[in-house]
Amino acid sequence: MFNANGTESAFAEQSVYASRVASKVNDYYGYKPKACVVTFGCQQNVSDSEKLKGMLVSMGYSLTEIWEQADFIIFNTCAVRGHAEDRVYGNIGKVKALKKNKPNLISAVCGCMAQQETVAEKIKKSYPYIDIVFGTQVFHRLPEFIYKRMNGSKRIFERTLDNKDIVEDIPVSRDGEFKGWLPIMYGCNNFCTYCIVPYVRGRERSREPQKIIDEAKQMIADGYKDITLLGQNVNSYGKDAEHGINFAKLLRMLNDLDGDFVIRFMTSHPKDCTIELLDTIKECKKISRHLHLPFQSGSSRILKLMNRYYDREKYLELIKNVKERIPDVSLTSDIIVGFPGETYEDFKETLSLVKEVEFSSLFTFIYSPRNNTPAALMADPVSREEKGKWFDELLKLQEEIAEKNKEKYIGKTFRVLCDGKSDNDGFLTGHTNGTVSVEFKADESILGKFVDVKINSYENAYIGTLIKN
Ligand code: 5AD
Ligand code: SF4
Repeated sequence: MFNANGTESAFAEQSVYASRVASKVNDYYGYKPKACVVTFGCQQNVSDSEKLKGMLVSMGYSLTEIWEQADFIIFNTCAVRGHAEDRVYGNIGKVKALKKNKPNLISAVCGCMAQQETVAEKIKKSYPYIDIVFGTQVFHRLPEFIYKRMNGSKRIFERTLDNKDIVEDIPVSRDGEFKGWLPIMYGCNNFCTYCIVPYVRGRERSREPQKIIDEAKQMIADGYKDITLLGQNVNSYGKDAEHGINFAKLLRMLNDLDGDFVIRFMTSHPKDCTIELLDTIKECKKISRHLHLPFQSGSSRILKLMNRYYDREKYLELIKNVKERIPDVSLTSDIIVGFPGETYEDFKETLSLVKEVEFSSLFTFIYSPRNNTPAALMADPVSREEKGKWFDELLKLQEEIAEKNKEKYIGKTFRVLCDGKSDNDGFLTGHTNGTVSVEFKADESILGKFVDVKINSYENAYIGTLIKN
């Protein structure tokens, strides 16, 4: 049963439900059914969806991406910005028509939106054709929910947020062949004042190191070459446990595994990025030379209001340390434009920080008020239109920096993982262990291998030549 440190399988109970569904599912529909998983939001959601797919396959469904073909459809939702939520409502509204044509269709909404009481209530009232609504910490109970609904239960609403347990051993059906996600922790303790995540995903819980190592070994044995460790703040890995293995130590353990692979990770909160971690990245060959270090705002005044626990100077000092220790590092960041009370003077500090650091790429967002967060109660006098202008100014600056940076890569040779076919006929794509992607002509037999590619030019993408494999 459930176990606080996640060492015992809590999925056993759900496996029983999954077998029961599997033995009944073809009779229920009259044929072998298909399931469609629609994912919104971040990599954590993509990773959760791979588990939803794994469970659905174990219940006898085959997977489809075509909604009209689905006999079970589930929306795994994101609540981080209002825009994401609006898109979800638009999409779940389409289930009404799908159900008209297929009365046996079972529909579900899960994830960060479904974790909110207001959203669950709205779906209960206004979307009567949604059968099952469940939150982030009970998503492993999908077999039980499907079983109950198939057996005539009334609509199911479940949003327990008990915060303690990590459920291990959930089957997973990964989307990629060479690149895969590996969650190392769940939840967040930071309560940045704009962010809904701690309220919908609960407090930080780290997986047991051995569970992570075992999963990584299995992925490597299955041919995965590019593994991304996931957590809202991977830098605080292990702080909630007593085993004494922090994130830097975990990285070293993964780096020591046999095989040819790259380990990436995201997201890193700047306040928890230690020199030990930077030295680990520097010394470990299999750890990617990429740091995603969201700074959110270049103004210390705004950072304080955001509850970020660092100021502009501390962030810049961290970047200096990063660049000194890992000269070939790729830096990326998240930025919020138009936080409540932000003035143009504050925003100019964001622009100057972007100029100073020269990030490889940026993820930029206009502030979106979120229910029950402290920032949603702060005075927000700047208009959306004005924030839009600031946003465009930031994008333009980043484009100029990116244009200038292109020259840095041309003429150089990089080791890349050949990970796909380009739209460009006869060309394959490859990614460095930083953030650069390149297209080059080569035989498909090298897919999934590390090769050396020389970058020659930039034409909407870097174009290179295969040097050796
Ligand atoms: N409004 C806009 N952007 C937000 N983010 C998180 N919450 C909000 C919000 N309320 C952004 C932050 C975070 C990224 C994942 O999403 O930049 O790092
Ligand atoms: Fe949200 Fe801040 Fe936690 Fe990131 S660190 S998930 S921005 S509360």
